[in-house]
Amino acid sequence: MNRRKFLIGTLGVGAVAVGGAAALKPTDHGAPHDDYFRTLNDELKRNGPMRPSVVIDLDRLDRNIAAVNAFTAASGKHYRIVEKSLPSLALMQYIAQRTNTKRLMSFHQPFLNHDAENMPDADILLGKPLPARSAQLFYENLKGDFDPKRQLQWLIDTPERLAQYLDVARGLGTKMRVNIELDVGLHRGGVKELPALGELLKTIAAHAEHLEFAGFMGYDPHIVAIPSIVASRETLLRRVLDHYQACVDFTRREYAALWHEGLTLNTAGSPSYPLHRDEKISNEVSIGTGMLKPTHYDIDTLQNHVPAVYIATPVLKATGPTELPGLDEKSAIISWWDPNQRETYFIYGGNWMAEYESPKGLQFYSSFGHSSNQEGINGSPATGLKVDDQVFFRPTVVEEVLLEFGDLLALRGGRIVERWPVYRN
Ligand SMILES: Cc1ncc(COP(=O)(O)O)c(C=O)c1O
Repeated sequence: MNRRKFLIGTLGVGAVAVGGAAALKPTDHGAPHDDYFRTLNDELKRNGPMRPSVVIDLDRLDRNIAAVNAFTAASGKHYRIVEKSLPSLALMQYIAQRTNTKRLMSFHQPFLNHDAENMPDADILLGKPLPARSAQLFYENLKGDFDPKRQLQWLIDTPERLAQYLDVARGLGTKMRVNIELDVGLHRGGVKELPALGELLKTIAAHAEHLEFAGFMGYDPHIVAIPSIVASRETLLRRVLDHYQACVDFTRREYAALWHEGLTLNTAGSPSYPLHRDEKISNEVSIGTGMLKPTHYDIDTLQNHVPAVYIATPVLKATGPTELPGLDEKSAIISWWDPNQRETYFIYGGNWMAEYESPKGLQFYSSFGHSSNQEGINGSPATGLKVDDQVFFRPTVVEEVLLEFGDLLALRGGRIVERWPVYRN
């Protein structure tokens, strides 16, 4: 091998290595808050609590309310508020007023008591079958004018549970209204076969002094969640509606005395409600999370909805380029390599079920591990983030998350206009 060829070869390999490494080198993902988040940042620094908070943008919530109102107008169905996803009395009252509904779906006995006491004219359907002892506790803790005999529907899934509820009703000398959970394909319990439905209806009909049939609930988010390679949406929706219709037909035929126009025929949830516009079997849909649209609800069926909830928290410390304990100044190579690790921040709180939203390009400081006290995050200088600025997250879901931060901060036109307490577990 002559020297010239060796040199050219070595330089060539070197150039390819450098070129390859350059291609792997992370690019700068950082960008500062846009106008929307800059306004929120300024408002929270001026008037916010300077600790982790949930903010609800009422202007955006209004757009989601308008989408639901357009649906109810087009479909002729009623709207039921899902309380576990919007667990704040003031938030639910805001939505109830603008959707003109008194219907609530509850999932938790303490919340149910709270609803009954504070919304005494509500019409409440349970969204899951509670243990009979929980039902008993509801009656023991009931305060105010709410009348469960007219305004409450317990959800029942099996003959065993129905027998337990009958005992509670007998013991209290009251009548309990019973809504039957249908398994319309989700396979999370509920009635699958007509003989099982017949058994429940027979018991209800035989104990008219203590039990009253109130309708059906068939929840179907799987229609949207299941990949089309398994089954198409059309097929899944048809199966939902076929089963629902079969249960309706069976009841009208075999238990005609139990049937009347006032029954609650509930279906759907946020992901699937738009698919129910044209069917005439159900008469109401439940929607909670879609009003706020966290990231897991970025789905095509909710394309008319906009994100209306964020977690905001202040930056406590800005410590510069990544500096790993033990590696100390040698850590400089990390920030040299990755511009998105040239700034390190420690925020107030963290480790939530949420994704980074603004400023752009922030990432979890993974070498440090998660902290619910002072989460470390990295970003590039392009974020412009400073101590006391807010970092904004979008929650992935809202149930539970909304309960973790104290009062919700309701914003209108970028200003905090209300502080809304949340339910206590
Ligand atoms: C029975 C039932 N209906 C409706 C919903 C819809 O709630 P959301 O609109 O918050 O997804 C749920 C959610 O779990 C549910 O369990």
